[in-house]
Amino acid sequence: MNIQKVAVIGGGTMGNGIAHVCAQFGRQVTLIEVADAPLKKALATIDKNLGRMVEKGKLSAEDKAATLGRITGSLSVQDAAGADLVVEAVVENLSVKQKIFSELDGICKPDAILASNTSTISITTIAASTKRAGQVIGMHFMNPVPLMQLIEVIRGLATNDATHAAVVEFSQALGKTPITVNDYPGFVANRVLLPMINEAVYALMEGVADVESIDGVMKLGMNHPMGPLTLADFIGLDVCLAILEVLHDGLGDSKYRPCPLLKKYVAAGYLGRKSGRGFYNYAS
Ligand code: NAI
Repeated sequence: MNIQKVAVIGGGTMGNGIAHVCAQFGRQVTLIEVADAPLKKALATIDKNLGRMVEKGKLSAEDKAATLGRITGSLSVQDAAGADLVVEAVVENLSVKQKIFSELDGICKPDAILASNTSTISITTIAASTKRAGQVIGMHFMNPVPLMQLIEVIRGLATNDATHAAVVEFSQALGKTPITVNDYPGFVANRVLLPMINEAVYALMEGVADVESIDGVMKLGMNHPMGPLTLADFIGLDVCLAILEVLHDGLGDSKYRPCPLLKKYVAAGYLGRKSGRGFYNYAS
């Protein structure tokens, strides 16, 4: 399938980046939000990020204007009707996603592909809320979308070969590198990353070292661009806890149990950068 028209549902952190990249690589994009304010914010963010690329000489002013010209904002999911591919990027909540997929199934063309950008929710479960499970797939973009190379492509139990091939080809056409994995809790990215972050929090709780030392060991010793506790603050400690709970529940193995200190920080409202306080203090 030749994917030319894309609808993106949700224009938050991930959705605006996905719309940006699809439009930059020549696709007609409909960006669908729930209200005027988040839609305006999403479009302004895309404008700002494209502007940065122009300043850095990575994009011409003409290409920026053409990219923006390919994006249409909308407040109605009905506007996904003409899309070849829909990428859903709304909140990480199963019932919200199931409702959207069931609605999209009724609205979209019979051959349209429905993708979710979920970090952890089962693609197989989301697909079961549609009558086209073969055409449902995971496209797990990384944050920030315009800069990160990987798309983790997740095959649900029923995802068919044609859908998988079309999404791999489309991901490459966006200048990204798709890597295909199967549908198990956390897929690969979060299944490997979150236990490392969790272990770093255990090391902190047990007094093995302080925050800066744990991050320093992993940065200098393992050549990681940022330490695990800095990364946790960047992702959001509530998001980290939610992913660990999915791994713990879904795989039933105690090795994924979230560290009590992580739970305590989340309970205190220390959610990382976004709340001004996490393992580090961002208030100043
Ligand atoms: P976000 O909270 O920044 O954005 C979600 C957006 O969806 C909001 O703007 C909201 O207004 C909109 N929305 C909610 N319900 C909607 C509906 N019914 N129709 C249209 N728009 C709706 O969330 P974020 O961080 O962008 O996450 C989105 C998805 O991407 C989640 O599934 C998350 O797990 C996944 N993800 C997030 C990453 C991250 O670093 N933030 C990384 C990779 C995946």
